Amino acid sequence: MNIKILTLFDDYFDSPFSTGIIGNCINHDIVNVDIVNLREYGTGNYKKCDDYPYGGGPGLIMTADLFNRYYENNPKKSDDYTVLFSPTGTVFNQAKAKELSMKDNITFILGHYEGIDSRVETTYADESISIGDYVLSGGEAASIVVVDAICRYKGGLGNENSLIDDTFEEGTNGLLEYEQYTRPLEINNLKVPSVLLSGDHKKIREFRRIQSLIRTFTYRQDLFVKVDITKKDIFAIYDYLAKKSNNNS
Ligand code: ADE
Repeated sequence: MNIKILTLFDDYFDSPFSTGIIGNCINHDIVNVDIVNLREYGTGNYKKCDDYPYGGGPGLIMTADLFNRYYENNPKKSDDYTVLFSPTGTVFNQAKAKELSMKDNITFILGHYEGIDSRVETTYADESISIGDYVLSGGEAASIVVVDAICRYKGGLGNENSLIDDTFEEGTNGLLEYEQYTRPLEINNLKVPSVLLSGDHKKIREFRRIQSLIRTFTYRQDLFVKVDITKKDIFAIYDYLAKKSNNNS
């Protein structure tokens, strides 16, 4: 898979792309990342890349001309899927990560300052992605998030099974992932739940389902809209709430 990143801040990627899951994919030639410094396509002695917005407003906008010059020198190939990063795009999620991980060639267009002339999106982008409802100083951090999520599908984890039970993956049926424990058995006066030591896989599955339900109930009730909830699940949540209220009284 080839990922091309068009940015004004190429050194931003040095550390995140040399370690961890992304570094692993790059070092094993599973993912090839080409970081293009757009500044090279700027004009004049100062390599100008931006200008004031028509109609007024704060800050500077990256020009469409800058991208035209890049694409004149590097024509867009028909199979090159191009994503523009912007807080006004569709919100990124696990399904989108999976979809992008199946592409052979992707180009990411990253904005900075107050954004990019809208005609760049119209001319070159296949879609626009936001990583969440907040505004970053640029698309660089957002693109690292997306590359990381993609690399998890490309074998960067070393163990494909670890994906299955992830939050937002099919194995959890739309619930948040259950809590995990490792050694020691007891720390800070907190014990590992005994069922996890029982070797009874059915009981462990049931326990984890309840943990997932409670966590989702506590932090992300919005997710329940898409989850197939059984009567047993509802009783489990009810039971949890009843125990919690008893402990508090
Ligand atoms: N650029 C600035 N904010 C962003 C966001 N939330 N997602 C993607 N790109 C961005």
